[in-house]
Amino acid sequence: MQVAIFGAAGQLGVELVRVFGERGHFVHSFRRSDADITDPAQLEARLAALDIGLVLNAAAYNKVDIAESEPQVAYAVNGLAVRNLAVICRQLDARLVHFSTDYVFDGAAGRPYREEDPVRPISAYGVSKLAGEFYAQAYCDSALVLRTSGVFGPAGRHTAGGNFIESMLRLAAKGGPLRIVNDHFASPTYAPELARVTADLVDLGQSGVFHAGGGEPISWFDYAVKIFRRAGLDPELKPANEREYRTAARRPRFSALENARLSRTGITPFAPLDRQIELYFAARR
Ligand SMILES: NC(=O)c1ccc[n+]([C@@H]2O[C@H](COP(=O)([O-])OP(=O)(O)OC[C@H]3O[C@@H](n4cnc5c(N)ncnc54)[C@H](OP(=O)(O)O)[C@@H]3O)[C@@H](O)[C@H]2O)c1
Repeated sequence: MQVAIFGAAGQLGVELVRVFGERGHFVHSFRRSDADITDPAQLEARLAALDIGLVLNAAAYNKVDIAESEPQVAYAVNGLAVRNLAVICRQLDARLVHFSTDYVFDGAAGRPYREEDPVRPISAYGVSKLAGEFYAQAYCDSALVLRTSGVFGPAGRHTAGGNFIESMLRLAAKGGPLRIVNDHFASPTYAPELARVTADLVDLGQSGVFHAGGGEPISWFDYAVKIFRRAGLDPELKPANEREYRTAARRPRFSALENARLSRTGITPFAPLDRQIELYFAARR
């Protein structure tokens, strides 16, 4: 099958290109410099001549705090551009796979979220990502939407946004105590594993919304402890709470995901977080 992958230079995009290539698909990978997904004419020009059976959209605007001062930009990439892709998929009769976020929830449930839980984003970023989910499904009945959380992949060493592990290592190198929130929980997800799970779901012909978070709810503080233990570093870590650590965007307190539908498919689940961190550091070397 010919597969088009957008956001190919991002943490997840790099891994999707690798995994779908390894599974024998003919992959057309598009970085932002190759195709801006907010521009329908560019998408049309890139895809019209190809016999695309599947479009994977890993492109996204992920600057959660900056989105509060430029919500239109976030919405253009995470919402309206997904409509562009969905419309093209409909024209080409291609399947669409789109990635969304745990930030479509308000985090008030206090337990990992399941697919059927009501959505209530509490930030411009969350609203824009939810719009993307709606657009994907509005135009493509067979769209597959994977909500994930705290993505970290080896490509994050070089991307502008990076990831939590790289941020921690960078801050530790600067010296001084690190203040890290211990009252916010997510389920960090290793990008190569997410790409593998995505390909498994595609192989099974699945559609609709799936949660695909790393599998283990953990506070950002405890996650940092694991990271530094693995890195053999011992910086001074100070637990902070939401009140002490104000950010421009509101974030859900507990946005870990329960991979309820995924576990019913029989697909191999995500490796435990310690193993995912181990694999990250091995790949980083
Ligand atoms: N990272 C996380 O912690 C996290 C958490 C939950 C959900 N997710 C979701 O998971 C998916 C993958 O995230 P990721 O961590 O791999 O993101 P990433 O590393 O930030 O990669 C996103 C890619 O999209 C590209 N992009 C941005 N605007 C574009 C545009 N208009 N046209 C084409 N490409 C564009 C970026 O290019 P530039 O670098 O040039 O901007 C970047 O290469 C996204 O849907 C994201 O929302 C991520």
